[in-house]
Amino acid sequence: MTYANIEIAPSILAADFSRLGEEILAVEQGGAGVIHVDVMDGHFVPNISIGIQVVKSLSQATRLPLDVHLMIERPERYIEEFVRAGAARVLIHQEATVHLDRALSMIREFGAEAGAAINPATPVAMLGDVLDKLDTVLVMSVNPGFGGQKFIPGAMEKIRLLNEWRARYNQSFRIEVDGGVDMENAAALAQAGVNTLVAGTTIFHGHDPASATRQMRKVATEAVRQRV
Ligand code: DX5
Ligand code: ZN
Repeated sequence: MTYANIEIAPSILAADFSRLGEEILAVEQGGAGVIHVDVMDGHFVPNISIGIQVVKSLSQATRLPLDVHLMIERPERYIEEFVRAGAARVLIHQEATVHLDRALSMIREFGAEAGAAINPATPVAMLGDVLDKLDTVLVMSVNPGFGGQKFIPGAMEKIRLLNEWRARYNQSFRIEVDGGVDMENAAALAQAGVNTLVAGTTIFHGHDPASATRQMRKVATEAVRQRV
């Protein structure tokens, strides 16, 4: 399965929270495909970020779909509320629930696209029995909890494997990567089979989030054209 374009998902964790509306408008103008929203509970990850109320406000402030990455324990408790708040996609961690199959079904039942995320120490095989319940597989290329960390190279092999599985088992889930994505590794990630690149620091910590978004999309899309 190939997608025409690589989608850029700016992670607002790296944005200026006092100017969130403007920051989102900028990446929207730069051609972002979705807005990536990191929700952290201080238990599953050692950091606390934002929650349902912010997702609700964001959904009213942008026409882009919200890609809500739940780094929270037992995410099934909150799926309905996040979907009601405007999450178009809900990504839950395989490690955060003992009932992954049920939780993924819940996401679709409430009307959103379902995604499962795996930490750097979690093998792709942990998702082998739920492939048909997935709209997205999110490969974490850092240990979740903070922006601005270095890309862990092992993620690349996982992406290749998922890309192989997708073809072999005739699946159509998208492959998303999150953590340490920059202008240097974007092309290789796209060639390995990624459809959605999440980027926080690279997009928001420069002087021009719109042009950073545009540039990353261009670099990755050109690379994927060479893949097919
Ligand atoms: C990490 C978050 C990421 C983070 C990525 O726990 O899930 O979405 O914002 O930030 P960068 O692109 O700075 O690594
Ligand atoms: Zn994230």
